[in-house]
Amino acid sequence: MATELGTKLEFMGEIVRVEPVMGDSVLTTFVAPDWAVRAAEPGQFVQILSRDPQSTDPLLRRPYSVYRTDISAGTMTVLVRPYGRGSAWLCEQPLGAVLDVMGPLGSPFAVRPRTERLLMVAGGVGAAPLLMLSEVAVRAGKQVTYLMGAQDAGTLLPASELPEEVEYVVATIDGSMGHTGFVTDLVPAYLGWADQVFSCGPEPMFRSLRDVVHRHRLGDRPDVQMAVERPMACGIGACLGCVVETRRGMRTACVDGPAFDMDELIWG
Ligand SMILES: Cc1cc2nc3c(=O)[nH]c(=O)nc-3n(C[C@H](O)[C@H](O)[C@H](O)COP(=O)(O)OP(=O)(O)OC[C@H]3O[C@@H](n4cnc5c(N)ncnc54)[C@H](O)[C@@H]3O)c2cc1C
Ligand code: FES
Repeated sequence: MATELGTKLEFMGEIVRVEPVMGDSVLTTFVAPDWAVRAAEPGQFVQILSRDPQSTDPLLRRPYSVYRTDISAGTMTVLVRPYGRGSAWLCEQPLGAVLDVMGPLGSPFAVRPRTERLLMVAGGVGAAPLLMLSEVAVRAGKQVTYLMGAQDAGTLLPASELPEEVEYVVATIDGSMGHTGFVTDLVPAYLGWADQVFSCGPEPMFRSLRDVVHRHRLGDRPDVQMAVERPMACGIGACLGCVVETRRGMRTACVDGPAFDMDELIWG
């Protein structure tokens, strides 16, 4: 069941699947109206009210990247890691619970029409928007290599989640699977191959990726898009709580982003 609320951006969606993934995280799939499922593009997110109806805490919705959409089933999936109180509440929601959702919001990743080879660089729950981007790219006949880093094998995205056409290469800090070390160690080998790089993960990973790309790429190609995670209040460009500094001035992560060109972002 999906019930539309007052605006075209809000709806109530019943949870139809909950699957554990990546250690302590869950994939939560809920029913969504046709307009929302069709509108969602890779890199966009939804804001989910993450509290019991009788409670006011946490007051504000919490943002989650769209992980997958299924037009025929009329569903949307998010990947949720229990980080604080809202995300822990969401992880505990059972089948049949009804979520209050706003979205899809934000600007999607920009894949140039002539791009044929996409390199994904994922850390932690940053895997979510890159999973959807991989599925869309493979459907469009493009080549995808998906690099993922995690602490150990148990917290990696399972290969079975990705389309089989995707080359999946992993790095773990403890060496329990793939390369021992950081996911960004894997990047130089692919920079000559990729037309575009897409990344989502924690800020230290972005800094490391920026350093590796600056050291190893020729000129300004491939370009790199980074989907940044900023704490968000409104999610619609009203509160300016999520601004990031760019070479073109301050931009909101929730409307102008979350995806920004790496060379546009200004951080230390
Ligand atoms: C565009 C976007 C997409 C996201 N996609 C996903 C996703 O797909 N899966 C997922 O699991 N998470 C995702 N997140 C992060 C998720 O929104 C936060 O983990 C969640 O909002 C935390 O809320 P909480 O109530 O659980 O934590 P709280 O109890 O509110 O916070 C606990 C602590 O964490 C700090 N904090 C809260 N949010 C953030 C944040 N985003 N960055 C840094 N510190 C923070 C708080 O200040 C506090 O100290 C995304 C965030 C953004 C902005
Ligand atoms: S969260 Fe309010 S402007 Fe971005």
